[in-house]
Amino acid sequence: MKVTIDNITLEVEPGTTIMQAARMIGPEVAPPAMCYYEPLKGSGGKCRACLVKVTAGSEKDPRPMPKLVPACITAVQDGMIVENTVNEDVLETRKGIVEFLLLNHPLDCPVCDQAGECHLQDFSFEHGVSSTRTVEERNTFEPTDLGPNIQLNMNRCILCYRCVYTADQITDGRVHGVMHRGDHAEISTYIEKAIDNDFSGNVIDVCPVGALTDKTYRFKSRVWFSKPVDAHCECEKCSGKATIWYKGDEVIRVTGRKNMWGEVTDFICNGCRFDKKKTADWVIEGPTNVSRHSVISANKYGANLIKPAFPVLQAARDYKQINDDRDRSFLGIQPALPKSKKK
Ligand code: SF4
Ligand code: FES
Repeated sequence: MKVTIDNITLEVEPGTTIMQAARMIGPEVAPPAMCYYEPLKGSGGKCRACLVKVTAGSEKDPRPMPKLVPACITAVQDGMIVENTVNEDVLETRKGIVEFLLLNHPLDCPVCDQAGECHLQDFSFEHGVSSTRTVEERNTFEPTDLGPNIQLNMNRCILCYRCVYTADQITDGRVHGVMHRGDHAEISTYIEKAIDNDFSGNVIDVCPVGALTDKTYRFKSRVWFSKPVDAHCECEKCSGKATIWYKGDEVIRVTGRKNMWGEVTDFICNGCRFDKKKTADWVIEGPTNVSRHSVISANKYGANLIKPAFPVLQAARDYKQINDDRDRSFLGIQPALPKSKKK
């Protein structure tokens, strides 16, 4: 069947959602997703980040849908016409969704481990407004340990349910979920139980914000100072395919590999994630492909370690010749002395 999204028409299989169709076209057209997570059954429909306008429902019934619809749970009809980035109402509504998600979310990015890879940070940067209208006190919770390696900071949770589906679908015996309702809703374990099974660490990877963090990595580095590398190991419990994150020569964390939508492609076991923190534990495959718009690709840490390429050295020599006083410390050379002071 045919669907048109932002003036681009494509053929899709029956049952395809608007989100899946938009992703087939590419990231420029795909709506943002804060709760939808393709590998997890039942995800989506919670956050409303992906609302789009359907200007024609189908070829048979081309009336527009009266309200904006969530792209992640709305199936495409033959001849449907959808507007995402080209519709003013959609863009205006997203500002409101960002505001809503930030109602109780602390603006603590400077001290949050997720900064730099936080989907809410990206969402508010791309779709939000720069000011806030709320003065009310936010919901606050004390951080809780969910077992030895995972910390929950409920203040940051946006109740997307991804961690709940992950625990449900890839681990045995889920012990955490969403307790209470509405403004009182919170992620919690049943009577303060620890989340303790071989795949529990994956909840950290699926969390779009910094609500679930890896205690073996917390505060070790900002993500843009580390270098992700694809690696694998022999593992009986999982595929052993992971991304390992270096700071200098040290492996500071291990995560599942993610696709271009930030979704884990191979869920890894806790042994690989929390215990294998030496290069010798891994067979290195090569640098992880990081999207160019990500702050991680700036690779600030690597910039200090990489030897200057020949043209840079050549330029440095030229600077010396003309006695330029610009800061060249990053090239590892001293400023040239004024001619009169040279011996
Ligand atoms: S803890 Fe993270 S993954 Fe779980 S519901 Fe909250 S935001 Fe979503
Ligand atoms: S991504 Fe569609 S409702 Fe959350």
